[in-house]
Amino acid sequence: PAAPAVRTLLFEWFDAHGRVLPWREPWSPPEPADSPAAAAWLARRAYRTWVSEIMLQQTQVATVRNYFDRWMQRWPTLADLAAADPEDVARAWAGLGYYSRARRLHAAARLVVDRHGGVLPSTVQGLREIPGIGPYTAGAIASIAFNVRAPLVDGNVVRVLSRLGAFGADPKSKAAVEHIWRVADALVDDRRPGDFNQALMDLGATVCTPLNPQCGGCPLQSQCVGHAESVEFGKIKAERL
Ligand code: ADE
Repeated sequence: PAAPAVRTLLFEWFDAHGRVLPWREPWSPPEPADSPAAAAWLARRAYRTWVSEIMLQQTQVATVRNYFDRWMQRWPTLADLAAADPEDVARAWAGLGYYSRARRLHAAARLVVDRHGGVLPSTVQGLREIPGIGPYTAGAIASIAFNVRAPLVDGNVVRVLSRLGAFGADPKSKAAVEHIWRVADALVDDRRPGDFNQALMDLGATVCTPLNPQCGGCPLQSQCVGHAESVEFGKIKAERL
């Protein structure tokens, strides 16, 4: 697949068919870039991206929507969350499952206030120093919130890119996932990295599904080696990695 064509086709599709979600807002920080207004805008966006991505880790998008809106009404900023009563945080999370996520998020928010002046770092490296922020979440916050050209890989991205390059192998294998991180890094768009990453995830969730992928409706069909060679995801030769 040709990277420029993949980007163009994916954005055309995403702009027309991407999901409308409460944490997705156009990237338009106030000018000038070094103003307090711009810094506040970025901080709000980073916090919202962080909370949404942690909520989305084991919970479906449809469920997360409502929880996200209520959460943001209650704790609109990272500082508000840091100051919250842990029991209120646990109650607000009730129904999302995996409560350790809420505890860790709350503890990390306090740490960001105590040690980082309440501001999330904007680089993958800086974000990885926050407990609970792994490679996926760091890539999500850097690209979606700060428009940094950073890749991210989740289950959907592994599947989409494995099919696109027809190098599936076992998605649970470390070598395969490491390879997909390199492929994602080479592909991610430098002007709209957050949209690019979210488009790949949306495509995996709605078109390039695990069973019965809708190749007829896929914007990347012309670029997809897996489709051209009719290779099944998960059954592809490891030597292609
Ligand atoms: N799954 C997890 N985070 C997502 C996002 N930001 N967009 C689409 N799917 C997701």
